[in-house]
Amino acid sequence: MVYITRREHFNAAHRLFRPDYSDAENLREFGKCSNPNWHGHNYILFVTVKGDVNPDTGFVVNLKTLSQLIQERIIDKLDHKNINLEVDFMKGRLASTENLAIAIWGELEPSLHRIGGILHSVKIEETENNSVEYFGT
Ligand code: NI
Repeated sequence: MVYITRREHFNAAHRLFRPDYSDAENLREFGKCSNPNWHGHNYILFVTVKGDVNPDTGFVVNLKTLSQLIQERIIDKLDHKNINLEVDFMKGRLASTENLAIAIWGELEPSLHRIGGILHSVKIEETENNSVEYFGT
């Protein structure tokens, strides 16, 4: 079993807040990410796929095909968008990096079988210091 990782990036706006909290409560719970007028992050996404090496190609999956899949299913929907307002697969979810990683897994996992890989993990770096990794459970 070999693990390969494709790195992508996107810029997006969000706000962490609960509508049932006051602005002061949201600030206490979510800090600067609760700013009512939104703010952005330069997110970095790592998608790791596992599988056996295909003896005909030497690949687990074709990275160009994987990159195109991530681009179409994820990056095109997130890049330069407002995660709270514009991203269909984040509708009704608090726009945390944790929830984003789970939602991206849900978007990618069913399509990966088509290109012959098994999704191993989705990792998102929100800042240099904060990252989230999801393994599907
Ligand atoms: Ni934030």
